[in-house]
Amino acid sequence: MRIISLFTACFLILFTVSAKEISSPSGKIKLNVELNQAGQPFYSVTYNNKTVIQSSALGFVLINGDNFYSGFEILDDAITSVDENWNPVWGEVKTIRNHYNQFTLKLHQKKSDRLMNIVFKVFDDGVGFRYEFPRQSNLVYFIIADERTSFNPTGDHKAFWIPGDYDTNEQNYTTSKLIEVDAWKSDMVSNGGRALNVPDQYAVQTPLMMKTVDSLYINIHEAALVDFPAMQLHVNRNEHQLYAKLVPDAYGNKAYLRTPFSTPWRTIIVSDKATDILSSKMILNLNEPSKLENSSWIKPMKFIGIWWEMQTNKGSWNYTDKADSLDANGKPYPNGRHSANTDNVKKYIDFASKHGIKGLLVEGWNTGWEAWYGNWYGRHFDFVTPYPDFDVEAIEKYAAEKNVQMIMHNETSADAATYDQQMDTAFKFMNRYGYHSVKTGYVGQIIPRGEHHDGQWMINHYLRSITKAAKHQVMIDIHEPARPTGLHRTYPNFLACEAARGNEFNAFAEGSPPEHETILPFTRLMGGPMDYTPGIFKMKGYAAGAPNRHMHTTIAKQLALYLTMYSPLQMAADLPENYEAKPDAFQFIKDVPVDWDDSKYLLAEPGDYIVVARKEKGTENWYMGAITDETARNFIVPLNFLTATQKYIITIYRDADTTSWDNNPEAYTIEKFVVNNATKLKLKLATGGGCAISIKPASNEEVKGLKIYR
Ligand code: NOJ
Ligand code: CA
Repeated sequence: MRIISLFTACFLILFTVSAKEISSPSGKIKLNVELNQAGQPFYSVTYNNKTVIQSSALGFVLINGDNFYSGFEILDDAITSVDENWNPVWGEVKTIRNHYNQFTLKLHQKKSDRLMNIVFKVFDDGVGFRYEFPRQSNLVYFIIADERTSFNPTGDHKAFWIPGDYDTNEQNYTTSKLIEVDAWKSDMVSNGGRALNVPDQYAVQTPLMMKTVDSLYINIHEAALVDFPAMQLHVNRNEHQLYAKLVPDAYGNKAYLRTPFSTPWRTIIVSDKATDILSSKMILNLNEPSKLENSSWIKPMKFIGIWWEMQTNKGSWNYTDKADSLDANGKPYPNGRHSANTDNVKKYIDFASKHGIKGLLVEGWNTGWEAWYGNWYGRHFDFVTPYPDFDVEAIEKYAAEKNVQMIMHNETSADAATYDQQMDTAFKFMNRYGYHSVKTGYVGQIIPRGEHHDGQWMINHYLRSITKAAKHQVMIDIHEPARPTGLHRTYPNFLACEAARGNEFNAFAEGSPPEHETILPFTRLMGGPMDYTPGIFKMKGYAAGAPNRHMHTTIAKQLALYLTMYSPLQMAADLPENYEAKPDAFQFIKDVPVDWDDSKYLLAEPGDYIVVARKEKGTENWYMGAITDETARNFIVPLNFLTATQKYIITIYRDADTTSWDNNPEAYTIEKFVVNNATKLKLKLATGGGCAISIKPASNEEVKGLKIYR
């Protein structure tokens, strides 16, 4: 195989009819684009003269085997440059630089007399490219059968991957060589089973994170996924090549398009530093600017929820266990376990108000949970009818008095067809009762039956929910969607989504190993913020009926996740009583901001550790988070990002000397010192541990009596 591919490579070089090299602004990254003798476009990428992607094919197959990948001639090409700054509505940094050289290749397929452009943008942190199908008489309505884009790595890289399931990203990651990828070895397959949801044994999800033997970090994903299916990658294990694979509909077709149309961007982010991958803004830069004229109503926030008590089976979402019977007065029989009752909601409102947490999510407030028998029945929920013990108006009034924002919950049970019909009514209901944000959810097999969570139909559905929410000035957090692709730049009311295995798996299932949170920022979070739901303080014995279940982190690591898992929407996920039992550690959750002027990824290695420092929006306060996998680690972190001559008070929430995630996860130590920009911080993380830190400017008066950090 090796010999054949070498031969093919030589063949391509010898008979290439046209080639162009485009450099990134600094020259670090070089893109090569060429048309071979058969008129098929190919590209390759280098980083500091090291090959990142070898010559790789481009193009499509349309329905009925119609070749739309070769037989092209070049009509025109052009190089342009852009260097601009823009300010996100919220984010990790205040200002983002968008700096790239663009190469547009205009192609004409001779035999069919059809046009296709390929637009490449070459940044200093990677390359993005997309296909454009211009308006033309020989291509109006058309159906994509397959995408022929390939990514041809230089070797059998180490890869961090989850299976190419059409319906879920909620898997644990496997770290292996590309050649060892086996999606069927996964511990979990989504509801429809393997044949339906993971038919390709060698397919993985993007973002796919890879590391080469000579320590290049390469991340492959997509940007601006609109009106198109999500891209997965098929791993050809013989030549460890990667091929784009689009998630199909019930007929096996991939995308129904009409010209003019532009596909999402295919992205390759590359650096010799892992921290650069985490700070890359390329995916955001490839998305369009905000389409919302007024975004002043969009506010990042922290929230608590009537949620963990159902996840841990102490209460229920459903008011009744008898879906089909009513008592003599025509009322449902209460099961006595319903968490979303007015009294309980008021207790949570009091807690949020007392501790300055802005939002309160209440799940299980609306009828239908008792009728949710399983997949594919549908029509469980109408999104506007509360259970008899949930008094919408009284709750609205009480929350307003206490200055707490109620967060709506719309679980669709994956019946997107019904939600499409009900959405306007649901958003009007939110507007009427003072809900400025909504968490939606898609648990189960999609209705329309035969569609997948990651197919074109659902991609359009999620965007419809985002734009409708924006029309009603509602912020949205989507659970069980396709993984994000930076669309929150264009629709900043799309605060977060799930699309990965969250902290909740530690409640109702075995959970994830300690390395999980050191991989997510390199994979799932590359496309956008995740509603991971950190902040669990009771580490063992929290799940009713599962006394041995335990978290796979320490408390200090749960705190550090507020920094390492960037999101403008952060839950304090545990029960109020568990926070009240540890008020000193809870103080960090109360303090930690959710919007930033600056972020510095200081140390990182996928699967091992992450250390990040962030500067709070509009202040001189810094916060730091450090997390590790199952290995205990020591780090020395210079605080040279602080302002010279300024004194600061540092508060360190760290693992106690006896802490470990499996034996003594709840032990922590809180210390305060005086630091300045010459301080070198020594961090000591327990196995599965972490460290959370706040650093605030202080006057001479304020630092009196505090020790200087040594
Ligand atoms: C799955 C979501 O991820 C979880 O947060 C939610 O509580 C349940 N679905 C019920 O909607
Ligand atoms: Ca979920």
